[in-house]
Amino acid sequence: MPAEVKEENGRVEGMANGAGLLYEEKDSDESVRPGDLSELLAAGTKEVHEKAENTQFVKDFLRGRISRELFKLGAVALYYTYTAMEEEIEKNKDHPHFAPLYFPNELHRHEALARDLEYFYGEDWENQISCSPATQKYVDRIHEIGQDDPVLLVAHAYTRYMGDLSGGQVLKKVAQRALKLPPTGEGLNFYQFDGIHSAKAFKQLYRSRMNELELDAATKERIVAEAVLAFQFNMEVFGELEEIGKTLQDDVVDGGIPAHGDMQGDISK
Ligand code: HEM
Repeated sequence: MPAEVKEENGRVEGMANGAGLLYEEKDSDESVRPGDLSELLAAGTKEVHEKAENTQFVKDFLRGRISRELFKLGAVALYYTYTAMEEEIEKNKDHPHFAPLYFPNELHRHEALARDLEYFYGEDWENQISCSPATQKYVDRIHEIGQDDPVLLVAHAYTRYMGDLSGGQVLKKVAQRALKLPPTGEGLNFYQFDGIHSAKAFKQLYRSRMNELELDAATKERIVAEAVLAFQFNMEVFGELEEIGKTLQDDVVDGGIPAHGDMQGDISK
């Protein structure tokens, strides 16, 4: 895990065409070189990724063991996280160390999460939610680096968006089934990337854009360390949700994917 990374690393060029992206694959002999940021990130976060996959909250979620209340709190945590991240991305969108990764139409989740929260909490949703302590720590870090060290935003964007594009469709199906959400997708906008036709092709484009950033080896190392930190922030949020889950008396429905299913094959799309 992740098994597909190497095969997927052929260079890809993309250009925005308004409705989505057009892709053109380049020759594979131009593909990854050792020291490429995409490779360093994949290798440097492999261990912490495995840890994140094995947190109780994530395992329960994948089995469909998640209550509506807990799912809502998860969406709230994501809302604050993406709001902070996308605020800092907007401020730094012309910074040469971030500009090539600026894909607001394709990636940004703030609006999608706001719609999901309105669906779950009603019109007055903004007055009903608050930022949890673990989420606040994550948010504070995002603002701190956005202000003082914006190249590290690359690590936060990578950790969330590449993860969302890898597992999103499976998580969407699990949540839809477990929470009996409508097939029309209400409450699940977060998982729906309307501007991306192929997650696999987009991830290739994103990797090649990361690899084209002009960065020295020390900066690349700092980005990898920040990505590990970003995974840890996510795990702290999962831990907090797991604790809250224990106190909730809500009904938990077993709507997860079959235990013998090939989850990883599915999740990478
Ligand atoms: C990539 C599975 C949780 C972040 C992947 C890939 C798989 C996968 C199969 C490879 C996709 C590909 O290369 O195209 C899972 C499973 C999870 C999980 C089964 C939980 C049960 C997470 C979490 C995060 C995360 C919690 C971070 C918050 C990422 C990132 C990548 C990725 C950043 C891109 C790796 C790279 O290509 O550099 N995941 N994931 N994942 N995942 Fe996860």
